[in-house]
Amino acid sequence: MTTVQEEFLRTFHAAHPAVTVRAMAHGRAEGGRSSYEILRDRVAACGRVLDLGCGDGLLLELLAAGKAGARRSLAGIDLSAEELTLARGRPGVGRADLRVARAQQLPFQDGRFDGCVSHMALMLMSEAEQVAAELARVLEPGGTLAVVVGGGPAGGEAYELFVRLLKPLFQGAPAGRRMPPLGDRRVRDREGFDAVFRPAGFGPVEWETVRIDLSGPPERVWRTVGTTYDLGMLDPAVTAGLRARFEAESAAMALPDGRVPCAMRVHVATAVRRDS
Ligand SMILES: C[S@@+](CC[C@H](N)C(=O)[O-])C[C@H]1O[C@@H](n2cnc3c(N)ncnc32)[C@H](O)[C@@H]1O
Repeated sequence: MTTVQEEFLRTFHAAHPAVTVRAMAHGRAEGGRSSYEILRDRVAACGRVLDLGCGDGLLLELLAAGKAGARRSLAGIDLSAEELTLARGRPGVGRADLRVARAQQLPFQDGRFDGCVSHMALMLMSEAEQVAAELARVLEPGGTLAVVVGGGPAGGEAYELFVRLLKPLFQGAPAGRRMPPLGDRRVRDREGFDAVFRPAGFGPVEWETVRIDLSGPPERVWRTVGTTYDLGMLDPAVTAGLRARFEAESAAMALPDGRVPCAMRVHVATAVRRDS
């Protein structure tokens, strides 16, 4: 059953396809990898990989690259037909099995995959137990689940400033202009993740928190913070005021080279499907 939340996500992504890649693909963890590359490496040994909430397909493109990628069988699902259209145009992704589907009801047979990845999508999904049950069903025993979920601002930088400026506007918005609460907060921390995934048939989660540096020129930093779901429903005049204030206050933080410091934390969670 499609929910109000899913309708909101569909509408948002139809209006802003590729939004997550534009916001995050340039971000780098210590050591130089993006959060997408970190997930790619977590399933390096897997030959049949599903991307859950694949968006416009950057992670699938990374998984399709190189000799190992050419041998892989790849699939992706997303609520958004517009995102999947962009994914189909990426190198190597045209041959992937891409479907508009809900994570709560996966259109794949039992044990079809030995790996599943999900970048910044799992924490948006309602009915977390149902999603976990579906992932346990389509992953074969021993299969790897690797996800990145958002962990908020890193602190002392522009993303934290943005959240501070946004909060009162969001709280003060009339009911019809507020984003519906999305997903299940439990999957954003280790204990909650285990509480959802262990009963479904997964082993204990391996949990790592990583800082992603998103610093850059002021316009790019706005593109990163200013395309969050929270702004989707706000009055455009309110958003314009927020932007003006954000740009003025973040300019005061700029580094000597003109870049604005911006960073977010992500949690990288990996769990193995137990033998049943
Ligand atoms: C923040 S975007 C991330 C997209 C992509 N993984 C990336 O990081 O570039 C979240 C994606 O999850 C999808 N999504 C959210 N809930 C979903 C659900 N229940 N079933 C399938 N897809 C879902 C959205 O449509 C959206 O494309």
